Amino acid sequence: MHDIPFNKSAIVGKEFDYMRQAIVSEHISGDGPFTEKCQTLLEEALDVPKVLLTTSCTHALEMAALLLDIGPGDEVIVPSFTFVSTVNAFVLRGAKPVFIDIHPDTLNMDETQLEGLISPRTKAIIPVHYAGVGCDMDAICEIASQHGIPIVEDNAHGLFGKYKGRYLGTFGSLATQSFHETKNFTCGEGGALLINDEQYIERAEIIREKGTNRAQFFRGQVDKYTWRDVGSSYLPSDILAAFLYGQLECRDRIQAARKQIWETYWESLQEWAHAQKVQLPAVPSHCEQAYHMFYLLLPSLKERTELIAHLKSQGIHSVFHYLPLHLAPMGRRWGYTEGEFPVTESVAERLVRLPLHNSLSANDLDQIVDAILGSGGILPT
Ligand SMILES: Cc1ncc(COP(=O)(O)O)c(C=O)c1O
Repeated sequence: MHDIPFNKSAIVGKEFDYMRQAIVSEHISGDGPFTEKCQTLLEEALDVPKVLLTTSCTHALEMAALLLDIGPGDEVIVPSFTFVSTVNAFVLRGAKPVFIDIHPDTLNMDETQLEGLISPRTKAIIPVHYAGVGCDMDAICEIASQHGIPIVEDNAHGLFGKYKGRYLGTFGSLATQSFHETKNFTCGEGGALLINDEQYIERAEIIREKGTNRAQFFRGQVDKYTWRDVGSSYLPSDILAAFLYGQLECRDRIQAARKQIWETYWESLQEWAHAQKVQLPAVPSHCEQAYHMFYLLLPSLKERTELIAHLKSQGIHSVFHYLPLHLAPMGRRWGYTEGEFPVTESVAERLVRLPLHNSLSANDLDQIVDAILGSGGILPT
């Protein structure tokens, strides 16, 4: 038995070679050759008009808020069951988060509640493809287009996942990716903005480069660059892009390995889950998931706490998330209280994520599965 961390970074391909190349070529600032390679790879693989690497998904979301001119008094519709950045990027511009509950099976935005939350102040709808399983994009796109409201997909979990045969991240005017250490493809900290609505491309390049048209200058399109708009520094070093390129090149191998881990969990835990009234992840048949995470929904908070402690006693690190944002001190500033989003509140108390990372071995998996099956005694049968 050995300790199994919840997440662990792994070299999967030519990351070191590419970082060395970036350093030797003496272009280690942003928008160098490896940034270009990553962007082109993603544009071609996903069929997206423009991809811009960013320093994080959080920053890609902040860019989306700037591009949509979100300001004080505006509202954005967003799940409470998400990472803080999905919301904070818009709150930073003065918007009010209008939270929406999730489906109890996929844990994605409950699109049936969407119409009722739209107001004249709604400036964006932000679906989060939880665990890399697509939200009901047919319904969300239909409602958004009827009201003329842009969609920003937070696809932090879902790179290369598909909804009805189309890649996640290609439905919204804008979409965001994360390359944080915990994601399928990583460079430690990183992200990307996917621009599907081409009207945003030119301004996005400016916002990302401190509000200047420096990108046009480097392409030789203008003979000097100047301050054109608001902006910040949202472009990563080419050393990070080099690392990321090494990972993205191995995308098929990474996804195949993760699929195998996910399916082993699924097959090994079915019977136990049924007996213990534990819910396993739901993947609708029209979705090809991104194999980002494997979670269990325990019957109650008590059982979840016991399972996490039991796994820990066996050297296995499992984690829970998300704490409902509407009940966080910040969320309560808008007057949100307990009971408003019952599915979110219930799921947040019962969910546990199992280790799923690119260096998880077959032995690790056996150890985790055995530990879970051996936890039977602590759960009512
Ligand atoms: C749904 C979601 N959105 C955004 C983020 C932020 O990503 P980053 O760490 O790249 O800023 C995360 C991070 O885990 C996330 O889970």
